[in-house]
Amino acid sequence: MPVPELLRIIAREIFERDPLARTPEPCQIMNEREAVSAYTNGGRQNGALSGAYLYHLAHMCQLVHPGDVVLDLGCGPGNLLGQLAELNPRAEFVGVDLSQPMLDQAAKMLRAKGIYNVELKYADMTTLVGVPDQSIDVAVSSMAFHHLPDEECLDRTFEQIARVLKPNGRVYFNDFGRLRNAESIPYFVGRATEGESQELIDDYYHSLHAAFTKADFERAVLCFLRGRGRVYATVVSPFQVVVKTPGHCQKLLAAKPELKRRFHALPRARKADVRQLSLFLNLGGLRNAL
Ligand SMILES: C[S@@+](CC[C@H](N)C(=O)[O-])C[C@H]1O[C@@H](n2cnc3c(N)ncnc32)[C@H](O)[C@@H]1O
Repeated sequence: MPVPELLRIIAREIFERDPLARTPEPCQIMNEREAVSAYTNGGRQNGALSGAYLYHLAHMCQLVHPGDVVLDLGCGPGNLLGQLAELNPRAEFVGVDLSQPMLDQAAKMLRAKGIYNVELKYADMTTLVGVPDQSIDVAVSSMAFHHLPDEECLDRTFEQIARVLKPNGRVYFNDFGRLRNAESIPYFVGRATEGESQELIDDYYHSLHAAFTKADFERAVLCFLRGRGRVYATVVSPFQVVVKTPGHCQKLLAAKPELKRRFHALPRARKADVRQLSLFLNLGGLRNAL
């Protein structure tokens, strides 16, 4: 990573006080064939998203116990959901998405990998119709909330999460956070998507422009999850925001050697993603899981 460029980004982010204006995703429900295949491809082993997935997977594994029912909001092609289910074979998983092509892709991948502890549902995360009250032990979501049209939908989603969670339920959500300086966006897109398709590069740009602010997540957590969620962001530049239930983290035990093996198998650039997330979220208050 060119360190001077990162320092310039940090300086620009420090000196801007306000977040950029939000531009909602042009394609909120990812139905187009190209979007499905670009995203599936970005999530492949060693793909642009593989380092970020591994980092967040370790945190999610800390919250999942045998026998739990785990809900993934906006599961997309199941890249992360499939890995989480594979690493926690004694838990049951439900993935919801409003894109049938994404759900079809997820079903195909799960069948091919022989993963049978996942149910896929066509459902809207802002209503969660069909998910009973207090039926979920752990709610997770990765890079999906920024697809919602506005803050009101974000709040409605958190209200639904509070409805379906059991009283001792836990959460782990990760998403992009809104940056303060427009010039930071090409930097983050460039370092994550080198060698990837134009479709994925465009998707990344849209995601960063559509991201909610850390304050949006803090408001939703305060209104609906209270002590069940705490909001963290990468220090200096809120590129990534995480909501995690405090105090419930178990040791990774069985999953740890496999997560470590997967880390060592990542290409250099993706290992750097894991290290950068670990450092900047750790400085933002989130203890590393791996
Ligand atoms: C960027 S993808 C993330 C996929 C997956 N979570 C991952 O990390 O690989 C966002 C997904 O959210 C889905 N989505 C958008 N709005 C939704 C809604 N209201 N309810 C359920 N899914 C939604 C999109 O169709 C898309 O599949």
